[in-house]
Amino acid sequence: MEKEKPSPKPAQETIEAAPELVPEPIPTAAPIIPSARPSRPEATFHFPADFKWGVATAAHQVEGDNTNNDWWAWEQEEGHIKDGEQSKRACNWWENTDADFDRAAKLGLNALRLSVEWSRIEPAPGVFADAALARYGEMLQGLRARGIEPMVTLHHFTNPLWLVEEGGWENPETVDRFTRYTRRVIEALGQHCELWCTINEPNVYAFAGYVDGTWPPGQSDQKTATLVLRHVLLAHAAAYREIHDVQPDARVGLAHNMRILDPANPSSRLDRRAAKFADGVYNQAILTALTKGLWTLPLGFGPAWKLRGTLDWIGLNYYTRDLIAFDRTQKESLYTRRLHARDAEILDGGYGEFYPQGMFRCLKRLDRLGLPIYITENGIPDDDDDQRPRYLLTHLHQMWHAIQLCYPVNGYYHWTLVDNFEWAEGWSLRFGLYALSLKNKSRKPRESAQLYADIIQANAITPQIIDTYAPGLRAELLPG
Ligand code: FCB
Repeated sequence: MEKEKPSPKPAQETIEAAPELVPEPIPTAAPIIPSARPSRPEATFHFPADFKWGVATAAHQVEGDNTNNDWWAWEQEEGHIKDGEQSKRACNWWENTDADFDRAAKLGLNALRLSVEWSRIEPAPGVFADAALARYGEMLQGLRARGIEPMVTLHHFTNPLWLVEEGGWENPETVDRFTRYTRRVIEALGQHCELWCTINEPNVYAFAGYVDGTWPPGQSDQKTATLVLRHVLLAHAAAYREIHDVQPDARVGLAHNMRILDPANPSSRLDRRAAKFADGVYNQAILTALTKGLWTLPLGFGPAWKLRGTLDWIGLNYYTRDLIAFDRTQKESLYTRRLHARDAEILDGGYGEFYPQGMFRCLKRLDRLGLPIYITENGIPDDDDDQRPRYLLTHLHQMWHAIQLCYPVNGYYHWTLVDNFEWAEGWSLRFGLYALSLKNKSRKPRESAQLYADIIQANAITPQIIDTYAPGLRAELLPG
């Protein structure tokens, strides 16, 4: 899609002052500054009229009772999830989404990203569950009835148990299996949704499951990780084509997790090289593969040309940054070590640095792809909500800055609506605008819920909003 760039400014005319026109002296008492000028800066940061304001969720994290997938199995084994917690009934979405969709509507959202669970839709190879598809159809209709446009992710980390038994993403046949599943989903749900996200965070999936080994299947082998990544991307490309075959008007993309990876010591050549290398592997390789059809990863290679041109839009999942140091003792992590800046504000649970500028830096990089951009995830674990208002405002301000430069950002999906099951961190990290009681599943809005609602209603960040929710930000956002 063609990006709109502002038309160049008209050349300024030079007006030569006529010598006989001597300007009248300005009476000293005249107010040079209009009296209406406020005593402090009152700028408002407006967003585009048709901007999409959303939240993002994923099936396994909210539905509950996803007993037929690899994450459920993983949770049952000791030592995998913090404090031995399990997803169990999660946020009960499989039974009831109405109350949460009402909450979303009350916040003023016009967009919501959710995922469908492969193991529910295809509980056994080639066997499709119409009831599950009907339930998802009901959810999507429920959103649309509330004026909320759904974005549906087809794969958000979980796999059916039968797929894992057949080799999971190490098996090249998984590409065809994923395509078959995709086709069935689009045939059934295409009438309620045009915006599709094939796969969530291929880099995180490959890293956590096959390098770090903290997620299923718990492996630690870089070669396998690269193979898995290749299959995941090929599955994306095949799904892209399949979706357009069934639904020509569909808009299909992928959610890419980007972290800012800066050199720990910028004056060290080794740190700079280590950071560049880490960035190339983690952030850049997938983008180059999908836009240029080139495979730049050090291990393995394959028919990457098939990937070229398989994005109608690109999704950015941005949370935080790391500093990267060269470390000759860290062979496993390719001689790199991650650390935080000494003066950094660290998010709960050591989740990472509070680094809003990273939002702008990632958007700047994605702008070069020439594709529409959605911020498909951005959020913060913060049970007591003491950082989230600042996090939300500063990150949205960075997004606003990007939009001013005509970077084509179409929407923002905050992670997330209600606290949900945070993978290996169990229930310990609380990302919700609403707090969830694990005892009785009741929801209570955090202050940030009202903040987000106010921003959406104003379609802007106003001085009043800053003063109400994060007065300490005034000097940063409204200097003067
Ligand atoms: C992202 C995942 C999402 C959630 C957030 C906090 O990497 O896509 O499921 O866990 O992190």
